[in-house]
Amino acid sequence: MSLIRGRFSKAADKLVTEYTASIPFDFRLYSQDITGSIAHARMLARQGIISEKEAGVITSGLESIREEIEQGKFQFKTELEDIHMNIEARLTEKVGEVGRKLHTARSRNDQVALDLRLFAKEAISDTLLGLKNLQRVLVSLAEANKGVVMPGYTHLQPAQPVLLAHHLLAYFEMLKRDAIRFSGCLERADVMPLGSGALAGVAYNVDREFLARELGFSQLSQNSIDAVSDRDFVLEYEAAASLCMMHLSRLAEEIILWSSEEFGFVELDEAYTTGSSIMPQKKNPDVAELARGKAGRVYGRLMALLTTMKALPLAYNRDLQEDKEGFFDTVDTILATLAVFAGMLKTLKVKAENTELAVKRGYILATDLADYLVRRGEAFRTAHDIVARLVSYAMGKGRLFSQLSLSEYKEFSPLFEEDVYAITVESSVAARDVIGGTAPKQVDRALAIAKKILGESKT
Ligand code: ARG
Repeated sequence: MSLIRGRFSKAADKLVTEYTASIPFDFRLYSQDITGSIAHARMLARQGIISEKEAGVITSGLESIREEIEQGKFQFKTELEDIHMNIEARLTEKVGEVGRKLHTARSRNDQVALDLRLFAKEAISDTLLGLKNLQRVLVSLAEANKGVVMPGYTHLQPAQPVLLAHHLLAYFEMLKRDAIRFSGCLERADVMPLGSGALAGVAYNVDREFLARELGFSQLSQNSIDAVSDRDFVLEYEAAASLCMMHLSRLAEEIILWSSEEFGFVELDEAYTTGSSIMPQKKNPDVAELARGKAGRVYGRLMALLTTMKALPLAYNRDLQEDKEGFFDTVDTILATLAVFAGMLKTLKVKAENTELAVKRGYILATDLADYLVRRGEAFRTAHDIVARLVSYAMGKGRLFSQLSLSEYKEFSPLFEEDVYAITVESSVAARDVIGGTAPKQVDRALAIAKKILGESKT
């Protein structure tokens, strides 16, 4: 039954078969496995290791197995352990003895490394597309609400007014760096391991360059032991995904806060909220909450594989089979999160009347008052003290800055003049006219750059 139990007189214990099998999850590599095997068979024929005719039979056998799998007709068998042996056994079943030649000059160790790298490359491309799509949505949302002012926060206390667009573009920047991390990971994944064999390289005249070309890799692995034993490209993906999920969890948290009754800055579309089974008035931001929650699961996958690989001796060890479920789950989680966020933000309604109310409440212009005194010659620290006392005075009276008289201002500093009333939320925002600042001019510039990046950067 098994392809590889030749030296044993017994079948594996049933529990062992189940415990060691990876087919319940590595069936997801069927397409990569078949693509890799076809390239391998063609290479074997080109090199005269098998005949062209044999390669032809193997290739069409593999293509028909791909169809069987895609049509749900393939019977995956646990006793055949993994996707590699399931496909190989079926091939021999279909085409006879010649199928047994496919595994010449190859080991499952370089085969699984290849499959996983092919999978990783596709996953990274999909992730880059997902990131770009979400960045597009952020830019459109920022652009559609260009004039909207809101409180900017530190310590979750109103700090200084900012443009909502500026706040949203902060996430654009985070995702931009995430994309750079994933692109770096793509470069490291783009390395062709076939020819490494079990660990030492293969004893046949194989053409690795041909394989790399056929399979779309830009580099060849340079050390067979490394090629079959490292999974750092998976870890890099999981690390980049962890950072990205951390970023998305912050956006999620803000959406949750902003959509609360207390903030009321945004309203989520009904298609992106859920109701409560007991409280009819509820409209819950579950998508954002789950994204926030799933960040933990993605970090966990990273930690799990780091721990699995720690102190693992070279070269291949079966422990490495543990790389897959976490990797697949990470890819699924981040792709789904990016997609659902794009939809959620596309349909998000900004309630500018509420952000404006929030920004006019309180003493958010305090820094601007201090800056006003500095421009009239006061030292910043002194100006800061003066305004601090002014805030406490105004609070005591239950009045806003705009409701204080000039003579009241003058009691705190003779430098205050009538033009102190020209300090407004708008003037405050406009004053932050530095590169990277929230002034409308700078935000326009940032939007233009963002759009250029989205139009130009290729994924
Ligand atoms: N299912 C195995 C894995 O995922 C494939 C490689 C098996 N190699 C071996 N020497 N047992 O890692």
